[in-house]
Amino acid sequence: MSHKIEKLHGTKYCPNDEITITAGATEAIYSTIAAFVKEDDEVIIFTPAYDCYDPTIRLHGGKTIFVQLHTPDYSVDWEHVKKVVTHKTKMIIFNTPHNPTGSVWTQKDLKELEKLVKGSDIIVLSDEVYEHIIYDGVAHQSVCKYPDLAAQTMAVFSFGKTFHVTGWKMGYVVGPQALMKEFRKVHQFNVFSCNTPSQLAIAEYLEDENKYNELPNFYQEKRDLFLSAVAGSKFEPLSCQGTYFQLLSYKNICDEKDTDFAIRMTKEFGLASIPISVFYNSHLDEKVLRFCFAKGKETLERAGEILLRL
Ligand SMILES: Cc1ncc(COP(=O)(O)O)c(C=O)c1O
Repeated sequence: MSHKIEKLHGTKYCPNDEITITAGATEAIYSTIAAFVKEDDEVIIFTPAYDCYDPTIRLHGGKTIFVQLHTPDYSVDWEHVKKVVTHKTKMIIFNTPHNPTGSVWTQKDLKELEKLVKGSDIIVLSDEVYEHIIYDGVAHQSVCKYPDLAAQTMAVFSFGKTFHVTGWKMGYVVGPQALMKEFRKVHQFNVFSCNTPSQLAIAEYLEDENKYNELPNFYQEKRDLFLSAVAGSKFEPLSCQGTYFQLLSYKNICDEKDTDFAIRMTKEFGLASIPISVFYNSHLDEKVLRFCFAKGKETLERAGEILLRL
């Protein structure tokens, strides 16, 4: 992992003290929050958000501060973020490429974050599990490219996403030695270690860089196929530059609650999606559904046929 990160982003992490293999990114996120967030600490997250951050923060006595991303491109309002940072802010969690929206952070976003936390004790948790699933020639802005920011960041990655083996529960976290030492105090009594056969298999597979460098083309083809399959339907695609999720707005079709519409589509048409309101603590209903396009050609075409009929 050390070589891979150095080659891709130019930062060297020491395998002994600065990298830990985890039971998926899920355990890396859980153990990072458990290691640093205490009673009454505030943690800033951006919504809509992947669902494990907020419950883990609350489980450890922390208070989640939700910052709404701007629709329709789900960008960050940095002036707003600056206003919610207080002396109680312990951690900022961000995720790029972003689940559920498929938006990606730019160099400017990383620079803004770097400026914001510089000189403070705030710890950053950077969730980069979709680092290799990114499109349209856009470059993934890993925190590892920004040495000042990386000096106070735990960055989380997932082999499950990169190699499509989510059930193997294999991921890793990288961060400066002092933070990693605290992380390992939790990791040790959480899982102790991660299963060796999977680690050996992944280590061998990783030797061929094409296995991850070719992923943008592989998934972009699927995204484009799905988009062309829904072209001409009443659904409106939102911009998706990363992850394997495409958001579709159905505001031109009906004003049914997104949860009800998603359930109805699954039951009546056999097409499953996730309503975006479930990724908001406020359950904000923007009439948008998330579709996973990490599927075979036939499935994507069949999904398109169903969506065209609605
Ligand atoms: C944004 C994000 N972070 C973390 C995870 C968890 O990854 P893992 O399967 O490696 O535990 C997921 C899985 O869906 C995710 O979408």
